[in-house]
Amino acid sequence: MTILLLSGIGNTGLPLARLLQEAKQSFLIASRTPAKLPEPYKGVAFDWFNPSTYENPFKADANIDRVYIVGPPVLDKLPPVKEFVELAITKGVKRFVLLSATGTPRGGPLSGKVHEYLAERGVDYAVLRPTWFIAIKQGLVASTAGDGKVPFVSSDDIAAVAFRALVDEKSHNTEHIIVGPELHTYGEAAAILSGVIGRTIIYKHLNQEEGKALFQSVGLPEDYAITLLGLEKQIATGEEEAHFHAQVKEVGKVHLKEYFEANREAFLA
Ligand SMILES: NC(=O)c1ccc[n+]([C@@H]2O[C@H](COP(=O)([O-])OP(=O)(O)OC[C@H]3O[C@@H](n4cnc5c(N)ncnc54)[C@H](OP(=O)(O)O)[C@@H]3O)[C@@H](O)[C@H]2O)c1
Repeated sequence: MTILLLSGIGNTGLPLARLLQEAKQSFLIASRTPAKLPEPYKGVAFDWFNPSTYENPFKADANIDRVYIVGPPVLDKLPPVKEFVELAITKGVKRFVLLSATGTPRGGPLSGKVHEYLAERGVDYAVLRPTWFIAIKQGLVASTAGDGKVPFVSSDDIAAVAFRALVDEKSHNTEHIIVGPELHTYGEAAAILSGVIGRTIIYKHLNQEEGKALFQSVGLPEDYAITLLGLEKQIATGEEEAHFHAQVKEVGKVHLKEYFEANREAFLA
């Protein structure tokens, strides 16, 4: 059994690779730049925007039977993911684990359509629906989310659920809502970070136009930016907080302050 990670060494890809390495599980990482993967990871060239690369993982390892999917960075993720999954099934892949999000339910935008397709395709699958990551790159200090609360989750905690969904003998064939251990507004998160790095980080409340401009300033097309504003609205209206109170959910261990302390150097940069 070999697990293919279609995640690069991204936010969840790196901690998942560490867990698989520790477990001595055979795995392969798909990346646009496999030569740049850190030791000891094995990579294979793969680009969602170049379907001629979709066969590469199976040429590199004939034993791939499980795949972790972080979809392509486009609004309509289904066409490329479906093309890959259909090929993978012909190559013997039996189980797919998809990274989606709390804000994108089955049949919804972004990964929601992929979720629906996998659930109806008749394959073994699991869908991870984490809340917002505690990610250094994210717009922590500027958002349209107002004073809505988020149960921020660490990528390590998401990777732990991904690991189980991939290696457990019995496929989960369900979705997992994944939240962190406590609720915070962005303003509170900025205050906690300020305390950890000893410098004041101000949370800037953005209106819709400012929020759209911020997303577009990092290269996202207008329709993608508008979809992301819809996800931030779910924070403002309390829908994200509601996931924290859901009966069935996975609760991560890492608290926001611990995360900031562990990554203090990166925030100081
Ligand atoms: N950010 C959040 O708060 C949040 C919350 C919940 C869910 N999510 C979900 O998480 C997913 C993305 O996570 P992320 O933004 O944090 O990404 P990421 O893990 O930082 O990056 C994903 C990886 O994808 C690879 N990649 C990028 N473009 C590619 C392409 N064209 N072909 C093949 N590989 C490519 C990159 O690896 P290489 O450079 O090695 O190719 C990169 O490391 C999204 O589906 C999002 O909905 C995010």
